Amino acid sequence: MNAVSRAGTIPSSCLHEVFNAAERRERATGRPVIKLHVGEPYFKPPREVAEAVAEAVRTGRTAYTSAEGMPALREALAVKLEMENGHRTSPDHIFVTPGSCQGLAALMQSLAEPGDELLLPELHWPIHLQQCLLAGFRPAFYPLGPDFRPTAEGIRAAVTPRTRAILINSPANPTGAVLDADALAAILAVARERDLQIISDEAYEHFVYDGEHTSFASLERGLPEHERRISSTFSFSKSLAMTGYRLGYVVTPHRRAADAMRVVQEASLVSPSTPVQYAGLTALKSRDSAVRNAALVRANRDRALPALRDAGLLAELPQGGWYAVLDVAGVCDDAEVFVQGLLERYDVGLAPAAGFALRPVVSDAVRTLSAEPAPGARTLVRLAFCGDPQELDTGVERLLTYTAERQASGGHP
Ligand SMILES: Cc1ncc(COP(=O)(O)O)c(C=O)c1O
Repeated sequence: MNAVSRAGTIPSSCLHEVFNAAERRERATGRPVIKLHVGEPYFKPPREVAEAVAEAVRTGRTAYTSAEGMPALREALAVKLEMENGHRTSPDHIFVTPGSCQGLAALMQSLAEPGDELLLPELHWPIHLQQCLLAGFRPAFYPLGPDFRPTAEGIRAAVTPRTRAILINSPANPTGAVLDADALAAILAVARERDLQIISDEAYEHFVYDGEHTSFASLERGLPEHERRISSTFSFSKSLAMTGYRLGYVVTPHRRAADAMRVVQEASLVSPSTPVQYAGLTALKSRDSAVRNAALVRANRDRALPALRDAGLLAELPQGGWYAVLDVAGVCDDAEVFVQGLLERYDVGLAPAAGFALRPVVSDAVRTLSAEPAPGARTLVRLAFCGDPQELDTGVERLLTYTAERQASGGHP
């Protein structure tokens, strides 16, 4: 018997490490760290959402619901998906989940077959990789261009006879890249040609600054259900700053997919939190807040990030999402060293992107044997720009000072 389980071989998220390093620093110095490494927004959920959850608890609406979630919420979500996202779906295909994180994990479990591959972007949210490995998928990676967008050709070239599904995340974490309808249509054509499933993670759907969000499954709107292949995940965490409420949802393309998803949800949750589902019902009526919140993050981007572009750290402003990927190659050949120096000298936290680019080598039983970062990610770091504007500005100022210092001393301050 293996002393370490399969899950025990999977690397823990790099964000965990960065988070701890910042906390250790705060304890050691007694000074606050400016946390540009975490995506926690500075705006708060709408007041009426807090009242809805409190009211549900007060009035005893706290019993289990079905594994799929409350019918009233799923009906409201079907309307939202139709009106805002251009889907044509039904409440039967929708699952309320404790955050889209759990929805993604459940979806992968519901799709996985032993030995099959899931294609992830070469720079990805580390949790996507963990979920892939936990579900028993073998991870494989598709390339991103210099603008961090994938192309249909790049994806086609990464497909093997074992590939079962592709994960698309637009707007993307960590890159902020956004895929328009044409790019998505080209990817869908590859998926149809090679008979692949698609998982579309749309957690940042409201945070598109140039152009507009295209929800991938809207491209299948006209197709009969049995020809559809896109499963989507959405979240209340980002749009309405409801990160700690833990509320998201999954939209499956047809009955068969919903049946598989239901089994995973029955086995893993029994049901999502009932008071939080009442919060969701109210939150769906607060969509103006999502628009306002997007404008706040956009203002942060437009104010704070151009200086990073001018300093040669950022190729272009991210089109969407909460994060930008910077390249510090001009002043340091190792992002971990850069990030540690910035934390120690200036009390600013950034996330080295190596943890967003791990390339696990796995056994036939999908045990992770090793997980080295892709060499191309060695000098990349992720910066979150969804936080308090003043802190963001100060953090960026210190980052620029630190970069200039490293430059002046030939990369070794
Ligand atoms: C790309 C992406 N997907 C999904 C999530 C999960 O969000 P939640 O579980 O809060 O809905 C996150 C959170 O950071 C994310 O960055």
